[in-house]
Formats: sequence, structure tokens, C-alpha cells
Amino acid sequence: MVKRKERPPVSPTPGGAKTGDFTRNPALAETREGEKSTDALLILSQITSTVSALSELDAILKVGVEKTLEFIGGNYGGIMLLNKESQKLTYHVYQGLSDEFVRRAAVKPGEGVNGRVFSTGKAILLDDISAEPEVLHSDLIKTEGLRAFISVPLRFREAVLGVLNCASPRKRHFAEKDMHLLNSIGDQLGLAIGHFRLHKRLQEKRERYRDVARQVITAQEKEKKRISQELHDETSQMLAALTLNLKTLIEMAKLSGLRDQKFNEMLRKIHTTAVQINNEVNRIISDLRPTLLDSLGFVPAIRHYAESSLLPLEINITFDIMEAPPALSPEDEVNLFRWVQGVVGNIVQHSRARNVKISLQKRRNRLELCIKDDGVGFDVSRIGRINSQKRRHGLGLIIAKERMKLIGGDCSIQSQPGEGTTVVAVIPMA
Ligand SMILES: Nc1ncnc2c1ncn2[C@@H]1O[C@H](COP(=O)(O)OP(=O)(O)OP(=O)(O)O)[C@@H](O)[C@H]1O
Ligand SMILES: [Mg+2]
Repeated sequence: MVKRKERPPVSPTPGGAKTGDFTRNPALAETREGEKSTDALLILSQITSTVSALSELDAILKVGVEKTLEFIGGNYGGIMLLNKESQKLTYHVYQGLSDEFVRRAAVKPGEGVNGRVFSTGKAILLDDISAEPEVLHSDLIKTEGLRAFISVPLRFREAVLGVLNCASPRKRHFAEKDMHLLNSIGDQLGLAIGHFRLHKRLQEKRERYRDVARQVITAQEKEKKRISQELHDETSQMLAALTLNLKTLIEMAKLSGLRDQKFNEMLRKIHTTAVQINNEVNRIISDLRPTLLDSLGFVPAIRHYAESSLLPLEINITFDIMEAPPALSPEDEVNLFRWVQGVVGNIVQHSRARNVKISLQKRRNRLELCIKDDGVGFDVSRIGRINSQKRRHGLGLIIAKERMKLIGGDCSIQSQPGEGTTVVAVIPMA
């Protein structure tokens, strides 16, 4: 809010505006009118460039008020916006007005001059507001010394978002073209407010979406940990015992000279199946909770994961890993590991690559993990769209990106059909 300070001296009306004496000299009047319209265009272009140059809404609105005051030769002005809670128009920025005036000026849509401008969307220009018998707070208007007065709607698309008020301590005759200029100023400021609000809403939505993604990822990690623990402590132990018992049974059958081929064969088959199930459960456990992360740390864990996923498919892997990689927080480690799982999983599923390069390097204050394949590549703009063949969303890369944002990093994907794929995760390092 612009607080009331010393009232500035009345600024001269731009181009000498209409002040009785020059109207008697038509030639002079014409020149002055010419200057005035140049000023008008200049002011409009200054406001337009302010709207596009400044990102702070209040700063834009203040410039809007200042420039309009310059145009009408006034020194009291401000912008009223609809307050959602009170459903009243209240001053958002102002200049030259007393605090009491600002406080008492709050009106409901439809009430008084400002309320009418707001509800009809039509500007009101008064040569002398103090002479208007039906205005609200006429006592205050007189005390403040307001005479020439304009109230212009701030429009955005079909809606009116607020009003711009400017006043001068002198009477002034407003012409039709003043109305056009002031409406254009109102439209520019309305556009700035509208875009600012849309941008804010979008940011809030993004933030909410990110919060949800964060909660989902954290809840998933927690649940994965719980399931892996249960599988490890219960299922895997029981399967290990079953395998051992079956092995003992086979030995016992051998020792007791049991010659039933079919029975022996069946026993061996059951044993092999039990071993396979146990291996599978162990694989699921390590997918759910990368135990290597806990025991050996991040680099051996990603090496192991990449090798065990890619080498069986005869995909060559080259590692370019910095010496003494920095220690990572458990949260960073687990999210980076999951990221690697997603990217390597995509290479297995989609790439038909022959070679993969995994590099981990520190560049300035950032740790960069890059996975590059020489496979078929894909159109990056299609990420997150419905895959017509599989008829479902591919979410892996979207989640991979979210994971990196979750830990304050970033994930970029470069690919083109026929050109291979490079996926890079960058996280800030202290
Ligand atoms: N390395 C890659 N090589 C070729 N295509 C890829 C590669 N990585 C991703 N893609 C393409 O991008 C799409 C999106 O990948 P994403 O990981 O987001 O989803 P998905 O793998 O299809 O499903 P999900 O990961 O959810 O199981 C894939 O369907 C695939 O067409
Ligand atoms: Mg995937």
C-alpha cells in the first residue's frame, strides 16, 4: 500500500490542458491538444511497457496510478479491488489520499460512483465531483479537496476486477478521447491483474500437485519398506526353510535307496521350484527396498542394478563415475536409486539399445547422474500422453521428474526417434 505522505504540489496539467485562457486562441489550443494526445499515447505506451516489464503486481498498479495522475494533472488516486471476504471494493494501492478516506471509501458493488463503475463496467468522468449532489461521503470529498475525478473499470476478459480512481484538486473538462485513453489504461491494468491472478492460481495448483506427488512418493516408499521387511522376515525365511527341508528329503530318499524314479523326479522338481520362488521373492525384496543401498551405498547399488538388468539382455554398460562420490542423504539416495530403476527399466522395456553409458559427476555445486542409451529413442513431447497401443498413461518419466523435484533437483530428457535417449538427474550439493 502506498501510504499517505506529504501531499505533492499539484503537478501541471500535461500539455497545459484546458485552462480557460488558451481556448480563446484556437491555434494555441490546437497545438496544446496535439501535445496532449502525444502525452496520452506516451502515457499509454509507458503503462503498456510497465505491464510487460514488471512482475510485481503492486508495482505495476502504482505506476498505473502515477501515470494516470500525470495525465489528468491530479495527485490523489488509487486502485480498488473486490475484497473476497467483505465483498466490498477496497483500496489496494493508493496515493495522496488520507487513511480515513481510504478506510471509509470501501463500497459494495453497485454503491456510489466506484460501485457503479464496477458493476456496469462503464467509466465515470466528473469535471467536479465536489459539485455532485448524490455522491457518497461528500463531506470527505470536500475535506480531501477532490474536484476533477475519474473512475475507470479494470476489465479482464468479460469480468471487471476493480476500478482505477484518480482525482485532481482542480476542475477539468474531460473529453471523449480522454475517456478512450482512460479506458485503455484500465484495460491494460485489468489485464495485468487478470494475468497475475491466473499465474498465482496456476502456481498454487502446481504446488498442490507437487505436494500430492510428494506425499504419494513418501507413502509408497514407506509401504514398500514395510512389505519388503515382511517378505524378508516371513516369506523369504519360510521359503529358505522349505528349500532346505526339500533338499534334506532328497538326500534322505537317496540314502534310504528309494528307487521310485517318478517320486525322486517330482521331489527334485518341487525343490527347483522352491529355489526359483525364493530367488524371485528375493528379487522383489531388493526391488522394493534396495538392500545394497543400505549395505554398500549408492554407487555399488546402481552398478549392481544396471548390470543385473542390462547384461542379461546383452546390452553393454560403460560407467564413468567420479572418484569418491559425495555422501548423499538417505532420502536423496533412495530417490536417485528409484530414478535409476525407472530409467534403466525404460531401457529394458522400450529402447532396443546395444550400449548404455552411466556417468556420475560433480559439476560446480551439482551432482549430475546421466544415463544414455543408443536405442530407438522417442518423441519427448509425448511424455505423459495416453499410449494408444497400451491404452494407458506411461507415468514412469513423470514420476522420475517429480522425484528429482522432491529432493530439490531436476530431471531432463533428451531423445528423438532413431537418436537414442539421454536422461539426466541433477541435484544440488552443499
Ligand atoms: N530409453 C527409451 N528408449 C525409447 N523409448 C523410451 C525410452 N524411455 C521412455 N521411452 C518412451 O517413453 C514412454 C514413456 O515412458 P514412461 O517411463 O513415462 O512410461 P512407460 O515406461 O510407458 O510406463 P511406466 O513407466 O509407467 O510403466 C514409453 O512408453 C516409451 O515409449
Ligand atoms: Mg517406464
